[in-house]
Amino acid sequence: MKQRETWATRTGFILAAVGSAVGLGNIWRFPFVTGEGGGAAFLLVYLLFVALIGFPAILAEFVIGRKTELNPVGALMELGGTGWKYVGGIFILTGFVILSFYSVVAGWFTRYFLEGFRGSYGSLLAGYEGAAAEAGEPEAAIMFADLSTGLDAFVFHTLFMAVTIGVVALGIRRGIELAVKVMVPAIVLLLVGMAVWAFTLPDAGAGYAYYLSPEFSVVAENWTTLLPAAAGQAFFTLSLGMGVMITYASYLGEDRNLGRDGTAIIGFDTGIAFLTGLVVFPVFFAAGITEPGEGGAGAIFISMTEAFATISGGHLIGLLFFGTVMIAALSSAISLLEVVTAYVIDEKGIDRWKAALGMGSVIYVLGVPVTYDLIFLDLLDGFADGILLVFGALMLVLLVGWIAPAFAVQELEKGIGDLGSLGEAWLWAIRVPVLVVLVITLSLGVLEYVDFLTGPFADWIGENV
Ligand code: TRP
Repeated sequence: MKQRETWATRTGFILAAVGSAVGLGNIWRFPFVTGEGGGAAFLLVYLLFVALIGFPAILAEFVIGRKTELNPVGALMELGGTGWKYVGGIFILTGFVILSFYSVVAGWFTRYFLEGFRGSYGSLLAGYEGAAAEAGEPEAAIMFADLSTGLDAFVFHTLFMAVTIGVVALGIRRGIELAVKVMVPAIVLLLVGMAVWAFTLPDAGAGYAYYLSPEFSVVAENWTTLLPAAAGQAFFTLSLGMGVMITYASYLGEDRNLGRDGTAIIGFDTGIAFLTGLVVFPVFFAAGITEPGEGGAGAIFISMTEAFATISGGHLIGLLFFGTVMIAALSSAISLLEVVTAYVIDEKGIDRWKAALGMGSVIYVLGVPVTYDLIFLDLLDGFADGILLVFGALMLVLLVGWIAPAFAVQELEKGIGDLGSLGEAWLWAIRVPVLVVLVITLSLGVLEYVDFLTGPFADWIGENV
């Protein structure tokens, strides 16, 4: 057997894990689900979920990965027995589902970035004036409707997936580590700059109020929808619940302090999502959009192009914004394909190259319907975030907490030292409270998805098939 690859440098793992976590979840998904959840109320539930559920859960993935040095499917089987291969199979399926729509959305960002080279965002919008007047909608909404589906979206989905496959085919060291080293610092710098700039916008105050001052009565009244939405967002943005962190930790030496690495990754990811909100909500309100939830998947494109078209310096800032998100999306997409590829390499003994190309192609095909109609985005995204990721996290917690707990604390202590009662506290946290919250969240998520299938999706089928 070939010696398993490990990270080339000490920071390689952190950078790759942060690169995986920071992506469309922070920048595209976070603002629109925050908008749908009513702003600050959602933010509060989301932050609590990240700290109380996300942190213990990421440690569970880390110990599984580093202990077994295997892909998620192999790892689960080694710890839980052969029956767990079905759970592992669901992880692989989750990777398929998420990456399929992820690539389409990343394709939109790629398109908006490249559009910026054809002219300023103002002049691009001017091209939609006639159609906008006819439809009685803002130009930016017409532009998004035009670019988000059809041949345009299809071409950029193809392009984005091809690049993703290329990087994964090159392998851990040369591909992922190198790419991420450049990406992560660039993202942080750009977002900080943009948040400072957003602060100077005329209606920034209204944006901050919407985003930052929660009404507790709203949280209490809406917890049955806020909880699954916040959970789905938390797992999605942290790349948790399908074995990305198992896979990355499987390339890891025993000297790493997993507690510190987990804190850094979560801190980074949450910081970047929060920062994105500090950019997006002032921009929304400055552009006169006071219902940030209404735009759905197009919200960020519509409001941002609207803003970049009207403010001075908007052309350059727009290019930087769309370009940054595109790069962030690439490092996340790489991690999704890496899990699926590592599985095929380890379990089936296929070349990295062929594995990446084969799996990437199937995922690509699964994403194509999204470029036809955005109802398929809700279909895939809702299934992945509302059900699959929560289910995955539940299984991981069950495995580490109850089925094979013997190794867990010991593994966590490698690279940290004696944890004393903290190790037990972590184990009991995932055994009971985390588990209970996940069961409740999963039930609520399933109910909501059934509502979607029997409601909007059934209507769509009725009208279009
Ligand atoms: N976390 C990434 C983002 O926020 C997306 C992602 C990458 C992901 N790998 C994942 C989500 C694994 C869930 C599971 O954009």
